[in-house]
Amino acid sequence: MNSAAMASSQVSAGNALELRGITKRFGALSAISDVTLSVRPGERRAVLGSNGAGKTTLFNCITGDFLPTAGFIRFFGEDVTVFPPHERIRRGLRRTYQISSLFTGLSVLDNVYLACRGVSRNRFSLLRPHRDDALMHAASALIDAVHLTADRDRIVGELAYGQQRQLEIALALSGAPRFILFDEPAAGLSPTERRDLVAILTSLPSHIGYIIIEHDMDVALRVVESVTMMHNGRIFKEGRPEEIEDDPEVQELYLGGGHG
Ligand SMILES: Nc1ncnc2c1ncn2[C@@H]1O[C@H](COP(=O)(O)OP(=O)(O)O)[C@@H](O)[C@H]1O
Ligand SMILES: [Mg+2]
Repeated sequence: MNSAAMASSQVSAGNALELRGITKRFGALSAISDVTLSVRPGERRAVLGSNGAGKTTLFNCITGDFLPTAGFIRFFGEDVTVFPPHERIRRGLRRTYQISSLFTGLSVLDNVYLACRGVSRNRFSLLRPHRDDALMHAASALIDAVHLTADRDRIVGELAYGQQRQLEIALALSGAPRFILFDEPAAGLSPTERRDLVAILTSLPSHIGYIIIEHDMDVALRVVESVTMMHNGRIFKEGRPEEIEDDPEVQELYLGGGHG
């Protein structure tokens, strides 16, 4: 199915995420042009494309880090196009970054606990002297979900790189997210860590949808049910993983080489 047909078949109020005609220009450069995309609640989708295709810019528009030059974005039916990032986070949108943003001097548990406390309402107090049991319980569950149970008391700066990426996923899971954007979570991971990542992503609660940007097709195509291909800032193909994998145009443009 081409992108226009797939988009028109999914124009409905029930989408988790709905982009219409999103364009982002930097001066004369159009980083993304007229991107129209719908994702259902709980749907897991990959956005693939070579370097410079506009994938991270698309994420920045969805999170509110960039305001689009044109178009609109709905999150669970609400127009969030011009909302600041924290208003989108409050509505259950999360992201992980290509570059790590952890408290490296604190333990794994402290990092996750602080993330849980940061997003929990009515509990925000930097002076709170005692740990909150419910939040501790939530933090422990998230640490288990990202396979860091044995490392919960270790200092984050001493963890392996792959473990730090797992911790980032735990932070993205804090505070009942409804939708997560993963930007190249497998970058720099060993084969074993990649298998771990696939296991973590595929066992997330089914109501949590996500979009994953990922160069490693072995990871990307195993953790999603739909794929959007981007090239030069535009969507040029959408389909199921097996359709994308077998598509000659995709193989020529993307798998053929030049991405990295
Ligand atoms: N903040 C920015 N200012 C100017 N140009 C940018 C900015 N961010 C991205 N771009 C440009 O937009 C295009 C798409 O970049 P990006 O979204 O990072 O691609 P991808 O994530 O697919 O590799 C590139 O040409 C990039 O140089
Ligand atoms: Mg990028």
